[in-house]
Amino acid sequence: MAKRVLTTESGAPVADNQNSATAGVGGPILLQDQHLLEKLARFNRERIPERVVHARGSGAYGYFEVTDDVTGFTRADFLSSVGKRTETFLRFSTVADSLGGADAVRDPRGFALKFYTDEGNYDLVGNNTPVFFIKDPIKFPDFIHSQKRDPFTGKQEPDNVWDFWAHAPEATHQITWLMGDRGIPASYRHMNGYGSHTYQWTNAEGEAFFVKYHFKTNQGVRSLSADQAAELVGKDANSHQTDLLQAIERGVNPSWTLYVQVMPAAEAADYRFNPFDLTKVWPHSDYPLQRVGRLVLDRNPDNVFAEVEQAAFSPNNFVPGIGPSPDKMLQGRLFAYADAHRYRLGVNHTQLPVNAPRTAVVDNYGRDGIHATRNGSRHDKNYEPNSYAGPAQTDAALAAPLAIHGWTGTHEAPAHAKDDDFFQAGELFRLMSEDEKGRLVANIAGGLSQVTRDDVIEKNLAHFHAADADYGKRVEEAVRALRED
Ligand code: HEM
Repeated sequence: MAKRVLTTESGAPVADNQNSATAGVGGPILLQDQHLLEKLARFNRERIPERVVHARGSGAYGYFEVTDDVTGFTRADFLSSVGKRTETFLRFSTVADSLGGADAVRDPRGFALKFYTDEGNYDLVGNNTPVFFIKDPIKFPDFIHSQKRDPFTGKQEPDNVWDFWAHAPEATHQITWLMGDRGIPASYRHMNGYGSHTYQWTNAEGEAFFVKYHFKTNQGVRSLSADQAAELVGKDANSHQTDLLQAIERGVNPSWTLYVQVMPAAEAADYRFNPFDLTKVWPHSDYPLQRVGRLVLDRNPDNVFAEVEQAAFSPNNFVPGIGPSPDKMLQGRLFAYADAHRYRLGVNHTQLPVNAPRTAVVDNYGRDGIHATRNGSRHDKNYEPNSYAGPAQTDAALAAPLAIHGWTGTHEAPAHAKDDDFFQAGELFRLMSEDEKGRLVANIAGGLSQVTRDDVIEKNLAHFHAADADYGKRVEEAVRALRED
């Protein structure tokens, strides 16, 4: 094999990579040492801003294969026939900690999936939890501030975490989920993924449906207790990354089965819960799971920075037949992600290999900006309309229109007959075994008992009481016992 030659960034051969050039032996360094200057300067620029949330993550490529006919609900081409395969990239993540954070922590996990479809990339940016803490995006920056490091102490503070929740009764359902047995997944392979929001599907006839996505792990759900997790973090802070990387390297390819819950659009208005409220699930007895296909991860990225750190998923990357619902949280996210990408990766982040469509052709009039690589040829006009047969609109909406009534204003999301902030949290508590209830209560009390203000504790206790009398009583007793210690 030919010997490889070390070069500068401009491709010139490097004579010495061990000794910098000096004025005489023992003298100061020469400004003309291009290789040294370039090396030091490039090193200073290695980091890019980490994701403002979900900074720590792991990714893998794979494919999605349709196993069941869903053409009655959506005209999305990648779901159009049984057996059809689409290449995918999935990034898993924790939420609250920074890039160097440990994997085995109590935190939701991100489940961000990119389908490289023939009609453009479809990004489904979900979590391993079917619900979320809040239901209006205007609260998101405050929520995240309260969960990440305190600006004075530089660490996560139970006072902040629980103070936010004291003012967010709608978080009770997600807190019950997070503090329960599924709150610390054993690995990324052993957890489910959810779209969490309600999305809209439209079929070829233009009929609209509302759907919720559920990716059920075929490895089985496995979780860690608080003690097991603490031990694992001490042994291998990167345990989820190690597990995913090694499984795929060994050819043990993890897979998930995708199911959807489908609600005909006309049923949304009178459903007993607001179907667009992200703090609620749709009971399966109302809308059963219908199988769609199988997701398999079978290839590790070759380079974590290029492919995982630079991966950009945006909930507003839809394809024909799939669109947003009026869920206010989702609507806020339709803005937030691509904006984050422009800041973190630059305006041309969609041209990076991991983000660029694979089979779909990008053809538009967007031009220039930092790091432009695909920028049109001498034959392409950079304005539209034009007389030169440039790309033109289709006049076919991606999804069906939604009827809207009323006045503009800062409205709360409409409450339906059974909507309150506590009912489903109580249902989840009552579904748990006696043992799990015990662990749930211990986990909540472990955090809540560290709060320094009694009024914050009281407000949180009131939420658990409202969810279920037994739930509230047990948490209250456990918090009192820990505070008396
Ligand atoms: C209004 C609410 C929310 C806002 C404003 C928001 C905003 C953000 C932002 C700015 C990022 C960083 C994106 C990047 O730099 O690439 C992010 C990452 C992420 N968010 Fe959200 N988020 C919200 C709610 C949610 C919800 C409800 C879910 C799940 C159902 C979710 C799942 C994720 C995931 C999985 C990532 C990581 C994506 C990746 O792997 O690159 N977020 N979020």
